Amino acid sequence: MNTYEANTNRYEVMQTARCGRSGLVLPEISLGLWHNFGSVDSFDNARNMLRTAFDLGIFHFDLANNYGPEPGSAEENFGKIFAADFKKYRDELIISSKAGFLMWKGPFGEWGSRKSLIASCDQSLKRMGLDYVDIFYHHRPDPDTPVEESMLALDHIVRSGRALYVGISNYNTEDALKAFTILRELKTPGVIYQGRFNMLNRDLEKAGMFDMLQQIGIGAICFSPLAQGLLSGKYLNGIPANSRAERNHFLKKEAITPDLLEKISKLNAIAKRRSQTLSQMALAWILSRNGVTSALCGASSPEQIIETAQAPMRKTFSQDEYDEIDSIIFSRIKYSN
Ligand SMILES: NC(=O)c1ccc[n+]([C@@H]2O[C@H](COP(=O)([O-])OP(=O)(O)OC[C@H]3O[C@@H](n4cnc5c(N)ncnc54)[C@H](OP(=O)(O)O)[C@@H]3O)[C@@H](O)[C@H]2O)c1
Repeated sequence: MNTYEANTNRYEVMQTARCGRSGLVLPEISLGLWHNFGSVDSFDNARNMLRTAFDLGIFHFDLANNYGPEPGSAEENFGKIFAADFKKYRDELIISSKAGFLMWKGPFGEWGSRKSLIASCDQSLKRMGLDYVDIFYHHRPDPDTPVEESMLALDHIVRSGRALYVGISNYNTEDALKAFTILRELKTPGVIYQGRFNMLNRDLEKAGMFDMLQQIGIGAICFSPLAQGLLSGKYLNGIPANSRAERNHFLKKEAITPDLLEKISKLNAIAKRRSQTLSQMALAWILSRNGVTSALCGASSPEQIIETAQAPMRKTFSQDEYDEIDSIIFSRIKYSN
């Protein structure tokens, strides 16, 4: 593949937002490498997606130790692409990784001990060929390790130069407040929370997470903003080949019920009225909610990234539009994915 020179207009395309009350600024659309960047996927497509994203001002790439498959291979592929295309842009990029889900055998291959988090961070840096990550997350709360220990490990990761900022993911509101309070007492830059949030799944909002984060000056990045692709028009006429639902693993075919399709179809009509695609409207809706810093999207093609990158351009909703969206989503069944 030819050598890569980034689009010189990249900062004119994407809007950015400050992460809470910190110096960290993120693009409103970020790209996650959970799916489609592993050793089983097309390397050229992965490279094209990263180039396309960066050209559109998406300068935040989110990874985790276990992304693949094979676990670790998304970081390895990212490392190869970084070395070839992005090394000279290192100071513009926000690269994150995480530890907490199962990665290797034995008691330290998952969860949140000091041993596990520091070892996993070192492994991730090696796989990606990086000196440091911009954000390192504890990927999920550990019921058995004191939160003080996990936060002290994050503190060490920052002080030893392995990460610039740290965050937590998948904690409930009460535990997140405890964790950020400890980080603040340690004067560790814990600046970001990562959680699932989309038009179909409002759990974080209902649990007061965004209100709490705003009060303490922490940013929020929302994963699965398209509910893994459900909040697009792609399933309206059946399950397309090579889609996530067709793979039937993380997104199950059974999730695509006639009732859900009816709702998606009605939401699609609202999006059309707003001169957006449904995926653009779903992302714009997230960005319009109080306390949200960035929508963390996945993609399987450069074309999807081009489409989603336009979402921040139209992110104002009238109260009537919010009400109409809610009345569609909360009619009859409550769907959660
Ligand atoms: N912290 C955590 O525990 C956690 C958990 C999950 C995810 N994450 C992070 O969040 C990122 C995003 O999660 P996600 O992949 O579930 O996000 P998502 O944006 O809800 O779903 C992405 C999928 O939707 C489809 N899609 C994307 N753009 C589309 C478009 N314009 N039109 C039609 N379909 C479109 C693609 O699936 P097809 O393959 O069907 O094309 C794509 O792979 C991950 O990569 C990861 O970084 C974090």
